[in-house]
Amino acid sequence: MSKRVLVLPGDNIGSEIVAEAVKVLEAINRQRDLAIQLNWGVLGGAALDTYGNPCPQETLDSARDADAILLGAVGGPQWDHYGRELRPESGLLRIRSELELFANLRPAIMYPQLAGASSLKPEVVAGLDILIVRELVGGIYFGEPRGIRTLDNGEREGYNTYKYSESEIRRIGKVAFEAAMVRDKRLCSVDKSNVLEATIVWKDVISEMASDYPEVELSHLYVDNAAMQLVRQPKQFDVLVTGNMFGDILSDTAAMLTGSIGMLPSASLDQYGGGMYEPCHGSAPDIAGQGIANPLATILSVAMMLRYSLGSPDAAVIIEHAVSRVLDRGLRTTDIYTPGTEQVSTIAMGDAVVAELQAAELSMNG
Ligand code: IPM
Ligand code: MG
Repeated sequence: MSKRVLVLPGDNIGSEIVAEAVKVLEAINRQRDLAIQLNWGVLGGAALDTYGNPCPQETLDSARDADAILLGAVGGPQWDHYGRELRPESGLLRIRSELELFANLRPAIMYPQLAGASSLKPEVVAGLDILIVRELVGGIYFGEPRGIRTLDNGEREGYNTYKYSESEIRRIGKVAFEAAMVRDKRLCSVDKSNVLEATIVWKDVISEMASDYPEVELSHLYVDNAAMQLVRQPKQFDVLVTGNMFGDILSDTAAMLTGSIGMLPSASLDQYGGGMYEPCHGSAPDIAGQGIANPLATILSVAMMLRYSLGSPDAAVIIEHAVSRVLDRGLRTTDIYTPGTEQVSTIAMGDAVVAELQAAELSMNG
């Protein structure tokens, strides 16, 4: 049975990195007869320019039809003058919300080859393998009421609402506990329950759930402490689970432990295993068009897609090995470059991964 993948390149470096990820997806598709069909759509600034809407109905319809979505990145200063509702980022939030992609998995894995590229000491990050499970369609990102109002004294005031219901917490908690069960069975829930009611309920619900997973060692940290621990001693963590905003912040921090945010893939899953796959980094307008962006986070997102939504975990492993071998060969985009390695372009990096896939196939067949 064929599988449909909707490709949304997005804005700025989005199209550059997605082009490489698609090359890799097509190569593995041919190699392993996966019967994957690609379909293309627009999201973010690209959609705003074409349809006057950062998340047009056409895109939502094709997204609902697809088994998985591959997304580059959205946004850029070109669209900064639009109001919040029309900004490219709103398009991204809308598709996440419309498709109920509530579970955002952001694995931060330190490739030993990149130990020197991290800003932390190699011994602090060597062997790092953590998974951040971020709630993606609730919390302060979506809470109502929200807005900007004018006070009686004529001042403007911006306001948002931070809330989480028990069922929202339970469904993300389940994903996190289950992820911990197939890893090192340690889960740390991150909240700010010393100040925020929404996270008092968060902590209560996650604590209640622990009795269903007696093998998982559950701990709790306030978000400020979690941020500090992530840079102090990141290897103490296995799985972290947290709400939308804290997860946004902590996952960027975790990304830098691995050398570069250009290495961090992500999966955003619904209840049924469908999902959207995107690098954790943004659209990097400052380097767009220069052919120097790191495509590996997007290529690794393709691996996650094969594992979680397309039922091809073997193909995922093959891609991950190919990335590792390219790093072994010393190829680096600028963000992960260190003296003694070879600096390559976005396209050369994508080609190198495809070449490793082909080499792996030859050695398997030969
Ligand atoms: C991310 C991004 C998005 C977010 C932005 C682009 C809306 O930072 O995926 O982490 O805040 O969720
Ligand atoms: Mg972010």
